[in-house]
Order: sequence, then structure tokens, then C-alpha cells
Amino acid sequence: MPARVRTAVIPAAGLGTRFLPATKAQPKEMLPVLDRPAIEYVVEEAAAAGIDDVLIVTSRGKHAIEDHFDHMPELEAELERKGKSEALERVVALAELARVHTVRQAEPRGLGHAVSMAADHVGDAPFAVLLPDDLMVDDAALLRGMLAAQAEHGGSVVALKRVAPEEISAYGCPRVEPVDESLVRIFEVVEKPEPEEAPSDLAVTGRYVLSPGIFDALANVTPGKGGEIQLTDALELLGKTEPVYGWVFTEGRHDVGTPLDHLRASIELALDRDDLGPELGAFLADVVRRRDLR
Ligand code: G1P
Repeated sequence: MPARVRTAVIPAAGLGTRFLPATKAQPKEMLPVLDRPAIEYVVEEAAAAGIDDVLIVTSRGKHAIEDHFDHMPELEAELERKGKSEALERVVALAELARVHTVRQAEPRGLGHAVSMAADHVGDAPFAVLLPDDLMVDDAALLRGMLAAQAEHGGSVVALKRVAPEEISAYGCPRVEPVDESLVRIFEVVEKPEPEEAPSDLAVTGRYVLSPGIFDALANVTPGKGGEIQLTDALELLGKTEPVYGWVFTEGRHDVGTPLDHLRASIELALDRDDLGPELGAFLADVVRRRDLR
């Protein structure tokens, strides 16, 4: 039986160039989605799936991320003194959500390189990778499903979502064969193909459960698309020696990687909330009417 997944790795070292100038002096991962930074949703998802050891791959200028998940005694004391018990509970719970560690990626050499920074921390066990540009608001259903599949079949499991042909060039795209209802076996992965070269309509999305064999594969791939060490290239290489599966899902993903996607995600997530949804819904209906958007 494969070892239990204990660690979630969250790559957060990128420069956030798709979000400049908002990200010039603050980490992209700390941009709020409603009332919480994006990365908080991701750490919560890991914790909800039973993974409470989190390794965040950071870089210069990302200290706010560490502070966010740490205790802040002066703030806690002040909230206590003022009797703000609800706020106090929230900040304390946040610091206790998971054991959060960081490791630095000194140079932006790609997602695969960022994941390879986790090798010493992870050791010889399977682990999860959660990309913080993708928020999964599904009570960790996707991650749980992937962990269960990995526990049953071993190897690695990558989240896959069907996308329209014109969208595929933003993603890794695998050639697959079906295993069962949600599971496919991956044989080849092309990073960001042109639609006519895409081996399927399945897009690699930001959740992976990886065998530790990925670290050897990452050490053996040469720079790929964009001159970067690509995780997809390492997955393809890994697939030659051990199984790499895809877990096909449909619901619950919100992309927050660009300003427009971020706004869409914020609206959808707010509409789902009891404290924000009704008023926001009425406001949106009014905007549509006033601006004649229908
Ligand atoms: C990365 C990966 C890509 C994957 C995507 C999922 O690309 O390289 O294979 O499909 O994440 O979000 P990025 O979005 O960082 O350019």
C-alpha cells in the first residue's frame, strides 16, 4: 500500500507579471479574493483533505505569505483587549490551520524547478502540489478523490479538465487512455500546445498528487517551453517508468490568475455566500438593467 500523502507543496515564487502593477510590491498569492488572500483558500483545501504539512515555495518579497499563516502576538493581544472575539478566533485558527514551511526558489526557472525545491522536505513519499492560481471551492472533493485514487493505484495523479480547443494552449495537455469512470492513464504530455497539435481536449489543472519519482525526473529533464523546467515534461518522463494517471473533474474550479478571471471568481464566490450573495445579486441585476447589458 502506498505511503500516505503528508505534504502539500504550493509554488508561490512567481513574479505575478499578469497582475502588474498590483503585484509589484506584494505577492500575487496575497491578493484578496473577497475577504481572504487567495493562498488561504488553497491551504484550507489541503487541510480539509487531511494534509496539514504545507511547504510554500517562495522567493524575494514574499514574506507577507509567511506572516499570514503565523501567530501575530501583538494583534492577538489587541483583539483580546478590545473583546473582538470573533476576529481573534479567526486569526488564531489561521495560524493553526497547518504547519506552514517555506523554501526559496532563488531564480524563476519554471514550475518544475519550483517543485524540485521541495525534494529535501518531502523525502521519499508521495506529496500533493496545489497551484494557487486555481481555487477549488468544492470542500476539497477533487483533492480527496485524487488522494484516494493514488492510494488505490499508486503512481501519480494529475487533475484534468475538459476545455474548448481555443483554451488548450494555456495548459499542459496529455494523451490518455481510460481506466475507469474518472481515471485515465497518461502517456504523453505536451506543454501549452497549439490547438491543432493538442493530443486531447483535457487540460492539466493546478492539482497534482505526485510520486517522489518526480524529483529524479525533474533532475533529468532539460529546459522546455519558454526555456523553463516544465513539470509536464517531468511527468511525461516519469510516465515511462511508473504510472501517471489523470483524474477528470468538471466542477468547482475558479481561476484567479488574471485580473478578469480573478473578478469572475470573486463574483461567483460572493454569490455563493449567504452574507454577500443576495445583495451582490441585486446589485448585478441592477447593473445589467442600467447598462442595458442583456
Ligand atoms: C502551469 C503548467 C501547465 C498547467 C497549468 C495549470 O502553467 O505549466 O502545464 O496546465 O499550470 O494551471 P502556468 O499557468 O503556470 O503558465
